[in-house]
Amino acid sequence: MKREVTITVNGVTHTRTVEPRLLLVHFLRDELGLTGTNVGCDSSQCGACTVHLDGQAVKSCTVLAVQADGCRVTTIEGLANGTLHPLQQAFWEKHGLQCGFCTPGMIMASADLLSRIPNPTEEDIRHGLDGNLCRCTGYQNIVAAVQAAAEKLRIEN
Ligand code: FES
Ligand code: FES
Repeated sequence: MKREVTITVNGVTHTRTVEPRLLLVHFLRDELGLTGTNVGCDSSQCGACTVHLDGQAVKSCTVLAVQADGCRVTTIEGLANGTLHPLQQAFWEKHGLQCGFCTPGMIMASADLLSRIPNPTEEDIRHGLDGNLCRCTGYQNIVAAVQAAAEKLRIEN
């Protein structure tokens, strides 16, 4: 039986009637048209679907939309605030993306990482992103981008 859910996504509250089996990633992409959150594997392996749920990074292919009822979700579209978020800027400047498919998930996982560890070592970054796969294998520039963003955020804060 369908259920009504109310989820605040990027600061806007949405109420929809959904199938109980609907995954959060499909709610975001298909119900709300927020296609920055990607589906890479649908089995919790790749991290392309990473969003923030009540401030914490989750793989939205492992969360049902009904489980997010009453919660706050931030997607890659919500990270920019008029200008690019320092992580978005740094991925651009440091060439942290190739095809870009994994990038939204990488950035959302990195944002969570930097909120917990503002001054991460390279090992911290690699460990923090080990649930996010880049099929282009451009990991070196991704690490450099996260380091650059961390420095900028420390200066800003
Ligand atoms: S689509 Fe969610 S982890 Fe791959
Ligand atoms: S940039 Fe292509 S999968 Fe990562």
